[in-house]
Amino acid sequence: MASDLPPPGAAADWTIPQGWDRYTAEEHAIWDQLFERQVKLLPGRACEAYLRGLDVLRLSRPGIPDFEELTERLMRATGWRVVAVPGLVPDAVFFEHLANRRFVAGNFIRRADQLDYLQEPDVFHDVFGHVPMLADPVFADFIQAYGQGGLRSMGYGALDKLARLYWYTVEFGLVEEAGALRIYGSGIVSSAGESRFALDSDSPHRIGFDLKRVMRTRYRIDDYQQNYFVIRSFDELLRTAVDTDFAPLYAELASLPDFAPGEIVEGDRVLHEGTQAYAAEKAR
Ligand SMILES: [Fe+2]
Repeated sequence: MASDLPPPGAAADWTIPQGWDRYTAEEHAIWDQLFERQVKLLPGRACEAYLRGLDVLRLSRPGIPDFEELTERLMRATGWRVVAVPGLVPDAVFFEHLANRRFVAGNFIRRADQLDYLQEPDVFHDVFGHVPMLADPVFADFIQAYGQGGLRSMGYGALDKLARLYWYTVEFGLVEEAGALRIYGSGIVSSAGESRFALDSDSPHRIGFDLKRVMRTRYRIDDYQQNYFVIRSFDELLRTAVDTDFAPLYAELASLPDFAPGEIVEGDRVLHEGTQAYAAEKAR
């Protein structure tokens, strides 16, 4: 977890200048290569809202988007802006930005030898993965509501549980659309491997979204997910964030055990029971 003081050179809200002029030609080329690869892969895989939102990223020049120009576009769509931060920020800072419709994005890009795997979110994950969905009015409201909910949750000692909601929706969510499963999670749409795995592989479970179930489920950060949770619509997600009284929910969850990734539990609406073969193979 990040310390509570902004690093040298960052503002009190942890933002820094993007420094667009400092990107090298090689760094812009990495963006272009990743962009082209994903844009080819995602039609028929990513949800409608994401594919529509991709247009926001088609700016006046190729390469890593200039956050100022990106913000102008996004402001027109949903009133969100994109601000640069040096890396992970403290929870309160993160929630405060989201609650005020500011999306925090890392300003660095992965190296050419890290195209497929990266521990810390870079500008490709943060912008290509997240910004198209922020151009959707309902999803944009959901992320803001999540930030507001986060601020209200600070004193309950349950942020790990709230983080699971973000993880299994914003980062790794699937949605039912016209009778098929589609991707909207940023961690999936920004990954060539997981864009295929999440939809095509027999290995992971695909389970209907349920707030309490999701908040009890641990997740893995080091490899493809073992469970994907599937929402029926973005309206459902927004209503969940807005209508839930989280305080009594945290109290209830405190007395209940967590679920491991890869478990199917009583009450699950199982859309696809996975073999978990991929995870088992990796664990050997
Ligand atoms: Fe992310």
